[in-house]
Amino acid sequence: MEKKENIVMFPFMAQGHIIPFLALALEIQKKRGCTITFVNTPLNIKKLRSSLPPNTSIRLVEIPFNSSDHGLPPNTENTNALPYPLIFRFIEASLSLKLPFRKLISELIAEQNGHLPLCLVVDMFFGWSVEIAHEFGVSHAIFVGGGGFGMACYYSLWTNMPHLGADSDEFTLPDFPEASKIHVTQLPENLRLADGNDPFAVFLKKVFPEWLNSDGLLVNTVGELDKIGLMYFRRKIGRPVWPVGPVLLSMENHAGAGKVPGITPDPCNKWLDSKPLNSVLYICFGSQNTISESQMMQLATALEVSGKYFIWVVRPPTGFDINSEFKAEEWLPQGFEQRIQDQKRGLLVHKWAPQVEILSHKSISAFLSHCGWNSVLEALSHGVPIIGWPMAADQFSNVVLLEKEVGVCVEVARGPRCEVKHEDIVKKIELVMNDTEKGKEMRRKAHEVRDIIKDAIRDEEGFKGSSMKAMDEFFSAALSRREKTKLEQENKIMPLT
Ligand SMILES: *[C@@H]1O[C@H](CO)[C@@H](O)[C@H](O)[C@H]1NC(C)=O
Ligand SMILES: *[C@@H]1O[C@H](CO)[C@@H](O)[C@H](O)[C@H]1NC(C)=O
Ligand SMILES: *[C@@H]1O[C@H](CO)[C@@H](O)[C@H](O)[C@H]1NC(C)=O
Repeated sequence: MEKKENIVMFPFMAQGHIIPFLALALEIQKKRGCTITFVNTPLNIKKLRSSLPPNTSIRLVEIPFNSSDHGLPPNTENTNALPYPLIFRFIEASLSLKLPFRKLISELIAEQNGHLPLCLVVDMFFGWSVEIAHEFGVSHAIFVGGGGFGMACYYSLWTNMPHLGADSDEFTLPDFPEASKIHVTQLPENLRLADGNDPFAVFLKKVFPEWLNSDGLLVNTVGELDKIGLMYFRRKIGRPVWPVGPVLLSMENHAGAGKVPGITPDPCNKWLDSKPLNSVLYICFGSQNTISESQMMQLATALEVSGKYFIWVVRPPTGFDINSEFKAEEWLPQGFEQRIQDQKRGLLVHKWAPQVEILSHKSISAFLSHCGWNSVLEALSHGVPIIGWPMAADQFSNVVLLEKEVGVCVEVARGPRCEVKHEDIVKKIELVMNDTEKGKEMRRKAHEVRDIIKDAIRDEEGFKGSSMKAMDEFFSAALSRREKTKLEQENKIMPLT
């Protein structure tokens, strides 16, 4: 029997990174019959092991890491557990994984009697692993869980920091003029406050140039929808860029990523079943974000004024422990929860909802979202238009792509601190959810995008979608790299005469 190909995957230790990697791992395993060696620190592996099916053929491998050695609280192995300032120390601490990772790869190869893994697929923060891959003659790829355009802006912004020398609130990116002007309010807060010498900037300025040595980028996006961003990376790194998305986790595997829903799909579905077609607004700011108390009040008021049906995933506002109990009587208008319950108008879900199930329900009309890339892909895969309220990282640029290029989004507010009036929120909700020209146009485009995505991941007799082709290209590049290594090694042992 032919030996199964092995791919080594190593995401950064944060849910937002582990989840797309797990989705890619399951996809590759299912469609390509490869074995996957999934590397992470002990506590993350333990969590994954307890939640993946017992017969999974994904091989979970621990890499040693002790947070106490890096001035972090004991047993810190995931950004989820960390207050904001310590996240950067944690990211820096991840640099210490280089030697253990080399050892791990070396042992893996020895264990396979010298048979090389097909590729190391690593996190965007682990550019340092290129050296290790190439030392052993193994192909190396960086898997970007974000979108092409959002990540291109992010990469360019942190590399160039154009806001530092700017004499206006708007600026262009020197190596990415194709992205429209960026306004200072579209910078993530940590970038806006960065002067170039702060730890995160220093870290990114080190790891981003290392991408240039990798053999290619895998991007969780669809080529047809995200051309400019992909073009940026092709030009920047001069290597192949493979849009292989969307890779998404299904509901049962979300549990695998350590999320416990605040509501099970059944009551949620039942509630949605009782509502008319295209009538419900779904609101969620992702698992790592929340809004301020005053923003929460304005949003709640807007929901009551608009009179639309809604499902709202609530989390304590900024300044409170995001994982603590939600206090509706404190943070929402008086009697809000009771009223919406009595009128069967809305559903408040605590912490986390079965998002994919909700977005796929025919009663859903629009999604008010922070526009984290996973949420975006989930919405677009189901043809749901988006009301964007970006909070951090690449989310601001994701909104630009969705609004200006794709035409399936309107922005309602920007950032976790902005002032927002309920009247303006109502206007945006009605613009998208009412039968306005704009609303109809957005729904039409959202359906078009859903079909483009469906096609991208189709692989049938006589038709292969763009994402499937990109995955093929990735595999053949990795295979030919290994063939080259084999030839070199044979020549070393038996020099040609
Ligand atoms: C694991 O078991 C389930 C249920 O018996 C089965 O449906 C699935 O195909 C199995 N998966 C693997 C990778 O063997
Ligand atoms: C981590 O290091 C600390 C301090 O050196 C030690 O007390 C602790 O036992 C270590 N933890 C593990 C899991 O090895
Ligand atoms: C949207 O629909 C509601 C309810 O029918 C209506 O009161 C409101 O004026 C409409 N707004 C717009 C902008 O069409």
